[in-house]
Amino acid sequence: MASVTSLTAHVHQRLSAALTAALPETADADPLLRRSDRADFQANGILALAKKAKANPRDLATQVVDRVVKDDLIEDIEVSGPGFLNVTVTDRAITQTLADRATDPADRLGVPLLDHPGTTVIDYAQPNVAKEMHVGHLRSAVIGDAVAQILEFVGETVVKRHHIGDWGTQFGMLIQYLDEHPHELDRKSAGDGAAETGEEAMSNLNRLYKAARTLFDSDEEFKTRARRRVVDLQAGDPATLATWQRFVDESKVYFFSVFEKLDMEIQDADIVGESGYNDMLDETCRLLEESGVAVRSEGALCVFFDDVKGPDGNPVPLIVRKSDGGYGYAATDLSAIRNRVFDLKADTLLYVVDARQSLHFKMVFETARRAGWLNERTKAQQLAFGTVLGKDGKPFKTREGETVRLVDLLDEAIDRATAVVREKAEKVGLSEEEITENGRFVGVGAVKYADLSTSAVRDYKFDLDQMVSLNGDTSVYLQYAYARIRSILRKAGDARPLAHPELALEPTERALGLHLDQFGELLLDVAAGYEPHKLAAYLYQLASHLTTFYDQCQVLSDANPKEVVENRLFLVDLTARTLHQGMALLGIRTPDRL
Ligand code: ARG
Repeated sequence: MASVTSLTAHVHQRLSAALTAALPETADADPLLRRSDRADFQANGILALAKKAKANPRDLATQVVDRVVKDDLIEDIEVSGPGFLNVTVTDRAITQTLADRATDPADRLGVPLLDHPGTTVIDYAQPNVAKEMHVGHLRSAVIGDAVAQILEFVGETVVKRHHIGDWGTQFGMLIQYLDEHPHELDRKSAGDGAAETGEEAMSNLNRLYKAARTLFDSDEEFKTRARRRVVDLQAGDPATLATWQRFVDESKVYFFSVFEKLDMEIQDADIVGESGYNDMLDETCRLLEESGVAVRSEGALCVFFDDVKGPDGNPVPLIVRKSDGGYGYAATDLSAIRNRVFDLKADTLLYVVDARQSLHFKMVFETARRAGWLNERTKAQQLAFGTVLGKDGKPFKTREGETVRLVDLLDEAIDRATAVVREKAEKVGLSEEEITENGRFVGVGAVKYADLSTSAVRDYKFDLDQMVSLNGDTSVYLQYAYARIRSILRKAGDARPLAHPELALEPTERALGLHLDQFGELLLDVAAGYEPHKLAAYLYQLASHLTTFYDQCQVLSDANPKEVVENRLFLVDLTARTLHQGMALLGIRTPDRL
């Protein structure tokens, strides 16, 4: 048996059965069970059910209590207040369920799979060709990667799409310039045999971009030649396409270096940029026009919405094709929807994109619905994220007012983290190599965790001091909690510890155990709402429970009977495995020694 039913679910079943017996006319009566500080669980649903059935809530609660048998699962159940139920489960049930999780043959800690998995196409990590990646691209990559992993873990089929910005009129200028200066993308340090680094690629592209821009702005004849190149590009002229491809390839060298720095796996096959939908654009427009979803207005092909108006009160349309015949961002996204729904057979389309693009997606989705490409069964949703702010609460900029380069940020985070790791390294006996590797995992983890631990739509402050702090809600805190357990397990000889369900548990062991019990349901909930921040919060609470447990209970103590030592080792081992799994789903490493 792979998936393990949680104690919450077991207790829930018992209470609902008792409720249904007490109120035969109410089917599926929900006791509204919650974890509680007073007992293990509290059921708050009786009041509303009693009201509906015109019964006295305390009487109803008492009837439920009378019908629940105390056994291996339920230690105690009592009525409290006007009609709440307090439920305490047995220590045996806690340890036994955890033992079932720990021995899950599928090695997924008993986490259930979705009852009805489908196919989700997730659009994330979509930088732009010939441009630097900035913090916004970081958010899309980090959130998208976590959501994709979580969905896969619960059994959804996930197709990844990196919708990079690789098309548009700006390429006319770049291509023309490169054709006139063919060696501008050559490696400056060519000849040393080493592969081009991402830094080199980006600096080449930057230099070329600036030079092309300057010429474009100052030289009318170049401007004319550049404009002609846009037409050639759109017409699919082979020589023009070949030069364009050089930009794409050079940019990919850079993108992949950043993704690697981010410790993130991106497959080339999943990079399907805007240009990937070029062949569909004509047909997309034809379909929209024939069905009357789009209409011609001042030469352009437009879709109108009752609730989208400009400051002057006039409707602002979604422009699918411009009056000069050119296609833009919207036509591409509408074609991508057709591809994802009809070719990739998606049930769900997710877009991890900046909240500032929300109006665009609202209009694109509504257009696709009117066209019948999206409907009740096939849904699209933007997972909008907020802006990254500096310490001062303003959008994150360098002192010179430029957008911050993502690589610089990551490098700084890694530097700071390495310093933190180094401070403790001697005590743990880490080699220089391990310090460097851990520094990377802690630094990148800090950045990812800070991003993932607040709900995506909210803006968040990029504060490196806070991010690498050992105390508080940070990844370093979680990584140290993990490493501490691993060190204890190493001391104990590293065999998979045995659970002892017959033992009575201390209050802090129970609290830790009951929190571990919720992992499976938590993940299903996180997957259903695409909310990695809830997983981060769960893991932080788990580490906090662990800390309290350590304060109260010795694990490896000669004063403990052998079974107690084993059972505590079992508890911390499962905690470590849960931390490891949870962090991995967030894209964060948990080094064994830290
Ligand atoms: N490349 C775009 C940007 O940097 C994001 C693309 C989002 N995805 C999409 N299907 N429009 O803002």
